[in-house]
Order: sequence, then structure tokens, then C-alpha cells
Amino acid sequence: MTDRPRRSALYMPASNAKAIEKARSLPCDVVILDLEDAVAPDAKDMAREQAIQAVKDGGFGRRELVIRVNGADTPWGEADLRAAAAARPDAILVPKVNSAADVAAYSAPLHEDTALWAMIETGRSLFALDSIAAAAATTQLTAFVMGTNDLAKETRARITPGREPFFAALSLAVAAARIHGLTILDGVHNDIEDQASLEAVCRQGVDFGFDGKTLIHPKQIDLCNLVFSPAPAEVAFARAVIAAFALPENQGKGAIRVEGKMAELLHLEQSRRLVAVADAIREAEAA
Ligand code: COA
Ligand code: MG
Repeated sequence: MTDRPRRSALYMPASNAKAIEKARSLPCDVVILDLEDAVAPDAKDMAREQAIQAVKDGGFGRRELVIRVNGADTPWGEADLRAAAAARPDAILVPKVNSAADVAAYSAPLHEDTALWAMIETGRSLFALDSIAAAAATTQLTAFVMGTNDLAKETRARITPGREPFFAALSLAVAAARIHGLTILDGVHNDIEDQASLEAVCRQGVDFGFDGKTLIHPKQIDLCNLVFSPAPAEVAFARAVIAAFALPENQGKGAIRVEGKMAELLHLEQSRRLVAVADAIREAEAA
């Protein structure tokens, strides 16, 4: 079973009614109604009400609907979590998770149909990635979302064009997510106007193994969807690998030659996954 596509996850301040309305027709796979960093303190209560109303009203079609709440240690955290849990969006995204105990506490009030997604954005979390991800076995945790702006703030690392200062955090978070079967989404790209740098970081996200990327502006969706969709040539090669292993003469073999390249049973598994991802995207886009 392959998860539904989560190539593009667009954040918007839940205080911005216009943005929420717009999101109902944007081609992103995930809509994240933010109550946290994008919302000023004076607008927190209004944003919470608008987010809850948006879930009630629906109209988001195939898009997965997520509410990002304020942390439990803020004046709004408790009310956010209570209201968001009662509204039952597809998932609730929680900030600054540091431990498996944080995951358990955030997960406890959720309805069984609501998933928990955790921001990975603190220095402390980097040293607990395995145990945080392992909490998926006993809680509703299903996804990690990188918070690279907060990581930069906390560590004082700079967000360079190539993101080198974040390589360790990004690849360890991906490894922890994979070990425990979580989806993992890359952090945002702050430059709204520059499509070339967006493409470079999207490609880098694919290279790191991310399932998709969080976004801040509608202009970023199309390119992100394209880069996080398997390329037609990749899918064609994957189908060729699957077909080759199915040939009678290749039964029982561990390694064969396909179009001039070595293919092992591990490549067969990867090929099946890639084709399943491509099929899931096609189905989602047809819905
Ligand atoms: N989601 C949905 N719609 C959005 C949007 C978003 N993230 N960002 C902009 N839009 C809409 C605007 O409402 C506007 O709609 P309109 O044409 O109907 O008026 C249109 O897209 C163009 O917006 P634009 O003028 O280019 O954006 P801006 O300069 O007003 O705002 C930001 C820029 C960064 C403030 C805004 O894009 C934003 O709030 N992004 C999300 C921030 C966020 O949620 N951060 C938290 C996670 S890091
Ligand atoms: Mg943050």
C-alpha cells in the first residue's frame, strides 16, 4: 500500500480568510491551516475559529486538511489542541516536538481518524529523532515536517542556497522517518519569486528522500508537484525492471540486466514502489 501523494503542502495563516478560500481550488496535495508562526498574537483566537469553520465547511476535495496548532507551552496551545481535535481534520501538526513524551501528550486527545504530524525544528529533537519516530507505534504519529526556519534560528546556522548547514539534520530525520514508516516533508523555501532556486531545493529534497515539501505561496505548487512526481522515464524504467523480473528465464534470479543496467531484487522492490507512487498521483489528480 502506498500513501496518498503528499508532494506539496501549502501553509497559510488561518487568520487569512481569502487564502483559505483560495486553497479550496489550488493544486496542492495538502493544505495546512496555520495557527502558529504565521499568526500574530492578537489574531490567534480569530484564526482558531476560522480554521475550525474551514474544516466544518469542507470543500477541499482531494486535498488533505491539516491544522498546525501552537505549542502546549504557549498561552494558546491547550485551546488550539482541544478545538482542532474536536474539528477532526485529517491531521494536526504540532510544533517544536522534542521527545516521544511530547508526541504521546499531543496524540492523546485526538480522534482515531485524525493523524498527528510533528515538526522537527529544534536542536534537541535532532538527538531524539529515533525515539520520537518510534512513538508512531503507540500513538497517532504518521509524519515528520522539517521546520528549517526554526532550526536556523535556534542553531544560528545560515540557510545557504545549497542548505549545506542542514544536511545532517535533513538526512537523519529522513532515516528516522523511514525506519518507523513515517511520511516526511521538507521545510519551506522563503524566496517566493525565484523559481530557479525553488526548483533546486525541490530537487534536493527528492534527492534526500523526502516525500514532498512544505510551501508558503501558491506560486510554488506547480513546480513542487512536478519535481516530486516520478519522471515518465523513471516510471518507464521501473516498469521494465518489473517486467524483466517476471520473465520465465529470470525466475529465481537475484540480479539481471535491464536496458544495460544491473537490476537486483532490491531494485525490483524500489520499482514497484515508484510505480505505485506514480499510480497514486494519477488517481489523486483524476479525482
Ligand atoms: N495560501 C493561499 N493563498 C495565498 C498564500 C498561501 N500561503 N499566499 C498568498 N496567497 C494568495 C493571496 O491571498 C492572494 O490572493 P488574491 O489574489 O485573491 O488576493 C494571492 O495569493 C497573491 O498573494 P501575494 O500578494 O503574492 O502574497 P502576499 O505578498 O500578500 O503574502 C506571504 C506573502 C508570505 C505573507 C503569504 O504568501 C503567506 O502568508 N504565506 C504563508 C505564510 C505561512 O503560513 N507561514 C507559516 C509556515 S512557514
Ligand atoms: Mg516553526
